[in-house]
Amino acid sequence: MIFGIGTDIIEVERIGRRLEKSDALKQKLYTVREQQYCEKGKVTVYQCYAARFAAKEAFFKALGTGYRYGMAFHEIEVLNDELGKPYVNPLGKVKRFLEENKIQSIHLSISHVKETAVAMVVMEK
Ligand SMILES: CC(C)(COP(=O)(O)OP(=O)(O)OC[C@H]1O[C@@H](n2cnc3c(N)ncnc32)[C@H](O)[C@@H]1OP(=O)(O)O)[C@@H](O)C(=O)NCCC(=O)NCCS
Repeated sequence: MIFGIGTDIIEVERIGRRLEKSDALKQKLYTVREQQYCEKGKVTVYQCYAARFAAKEAFFKALGTGYRYGMAFHEIEVLNDELGKPYVNPLGKVKRFLEENKIQSIHLSISHVKETAVAMVVMEK
């Protein structure tokens, strides 16, 4: 059964400007593994970060809570499998919240071009 869906779109340049100014923000928003994946991209590095930001926003929309209950952005880790397919690795309070709400699976799709990044999340209960 579908628990919720969420989508988000973001301007790559906006994320790029904010991350260039503040390394602390990067550490706050992204896990080490996300940073390692995105920093490999060189040209697409900010597209990658923007896509992960959109994925985290889409995740909260699918959850239906928005930013509540102390759940933080770096507790939603976006990883890629061996074929490149992205998936969500929930951590900390987010993981607990999903368990409490009996969410069984999370589907994530990401797309990015020079200007914008989009993400969509579907959660099943
Ligand atoms: C996966 C694929 C459909 C992506 O489409 P695209 O238009 O190039 O790129 P988009 O910006 O729309 O999407 C990129 C995102 O697709 C997602 N993606 C990559 N592989 C995927 C897969 N196997 N399944 C689902 N999603 C995938 C990733 O999230 C990626 O973004 P990320 O690296 O930041 O996580 C396409 O690259 C493909 O089919 N690749 C496999 C074959 C291949 O590698 N060909 C290249 C040489 S011919």
